[in-house]
Amino acid sequence: MSTLPTRPATADKSPSSIAEIETQRLRRRTFAIISHPDAGKTTLTEKLLLFGNSIEIAGAVRGRKSERTAKSDWMEMEQERGISVSSTALTFEFAGAQINLLDTPGHHDFSEDTYRTLMAADAAVMVIDLAKGIEAQTEKLFRVCALRKIPVLTFVNKVDRRGRSPLEIIDEIERKFSIEPVPQNWPLGSGEDFRGFIDLHDDSVHLFDEHRANRRISSKVVSWSDLETVEPAISSDLIDATGEEVELVRMAGASLEQSQFLSGAQTPVFFGSALTNFGIEHFLHGFLKLCPPPGSRNATEPPSPNFSGFIFKIQANLDPRHRDRVAFLRVCSGMFERDMEVTIARSMKKIRLARAFRIFGQDRQTIDEAYPGDIIGLVCPGEFRLGDTLCQNEIVHQEGLPQFSPEFFAVLDCTDTARRKQFDRGLKQLIEEGAIQVFHDAHTKRRENLLAAVGELQFDVVRYRLESEYNAPTSLSWRPYKLVRWFNATPEQKAKIRLPYSGKLALDQFGHDAVLLQSEWDVKALHRANPDIQFQEMRVAT
Ligand code: G4P
Repeated sequence: MSTLPTRPATADKSPSSIAEIETQRLRRRTFAIISHPDAGKTTLTEKLLLFGNSIEIAGAVRGRKSERTAKSDWMEMEQERGISVSSTALTFEFAGAQINLLDTPGHHDFSEDTYRTLMAADAAVMVIDLAKGIEAQTEKLFRVCALRKIPVLTFVNKVDRRGRSPLEIIDEIERKFSIEPVPQNWPLGSGEDFRGFIDLHDDSVHLFDEHRANRRISSKVVSWSDLETVEPAISSDLIDATGEEVELVRMAGASLEQSQFLSGAQTPVFFGSALTNFGIEHFLHGFLKLCPPPGSRNATEPPSPNFSGFIFKIQANLDPRHRDRVAFLRVCSGMFERDMEVTIARSMKKIRLARAFRIFGQDRQTIDEAYPGDIIGLVCPGEFRLGDTLCQNEIVHQEGLPQFSPEFFAVLDCTDTARRKQFDRGLKQLIEEGAIQVFHDAHTKRRENLLAAVGELQFDVVRYRLESEYNAPTSLSWRPYKLVRWFNATPEQKAKIRLPYSGKLALDQFGHDAVLLQSEWDVKALHRANPDIQFQEMRVAT
């Protein structure tokens, strides 16, 4: 992040408002959940909201998911396909903290959206199904967190169902992610034998009562050493087997250190069951202790008291009645106030932020003020681009949003020549919103629109929107590429670059050099043939 002060950094801020901004910042925790569909993200979200007493919102989370195929969603296309394209943030209070949970689309075809939403998070919670272990989508999302050094907490869900052994899950996390998993609690049995968990900090056993599951109650707590005497119904075999597992975990010797967690070297692991509420409160307390407040993850001093924030998502058609666009901004420093004038760092244009909302589904709640870590929706008059930094008093350039290696490529054409102008205008807009990426052949000057996206359905969104908003009918012709590797090279290096047979040299929409490839095998061949060039699977868009 570079800073070019144009006025004294604390202009217009009285000491009391600076103190208030700092108090509010330290009170906030902003995170996202990463998981494979069905691991329990919706259920966990709902239960976290319940513990935060946001009961109404909690009900709506479930409602939203189950209604997806039945009632109108945010786009007609979502309704047809029963998927959620959009993401926003849910806010709740817990133990004096304000927690902002970034909602991400569950459908893997919109994972690019999830990747970008992660850039607005200070931490991620990885939900793993005890029976299924680490699944493909979780693996991808974890890699994005690792590339961006976003600390990850792990919640192993569904311990009330028979699954794999917890030791196996721990081992899998370590093996697949090269991160040290540090269990914070340990399940006492699983499936029909599930009896509760042991808090590994103080060896207290929290007993599960299935008759009282689903209610927000504190569990019965006994000490590990008294367990056999106090609870004779729990078999000694189960106690012995669990004791041995805990012994093994302790022998592995890992103890959690905040700095190791923040640097991505360790992940604390919590076991629980979102459906039955079990382990959620314990997890929330652990989360609060570990998740860093906004702005303090990599910084050595508190962020500036002047307002700044960046746009991580632009969403069109959120409300079909208005057909407007909403830009989602994460506040990074200072205080947002309705009607404030800000500068868009890219264009240096000044703009008044008259309409700001907290958005949940179709509902909008006007926001008058917001603090670091908060997410606000701004009605977007076409001024903003994805990755834009908005600031006040001092010009701040937040690091841009990364572009992620797409997996699908296709050439898009307008089938009605009379609508060509509208097509070009619409496509430009969609690219700026981040709905799709575009590449051009690095050699030919022909401006072919080779579109690229992480998920196949992103193409449908683009085509749908070009047709419905710009009245531009299109045709799509798939290309066989599956990956992109960006690179920085001198003109001499570029002239001599050796590509695999099926590789193609291209320029992205920002003019960055890239190679389009068809397989992981091609990636390896590219690296081998060009050892002096550094290739990247993600690049910061500027
Ligand atoms: P997702 O958002 O990650 O896709 O998952 P979601 O929460 O919808 O959960 C997927 C399924 O797993 C749901 O069952 C849910 O009830 C179940 N589930 C979530 N957490 C737990 C848990 O801790 N224990 C058990 N046993 N099940 C859990 P479903 O039958 O697919 O849907 P529904 O009819 O319950 O909504």
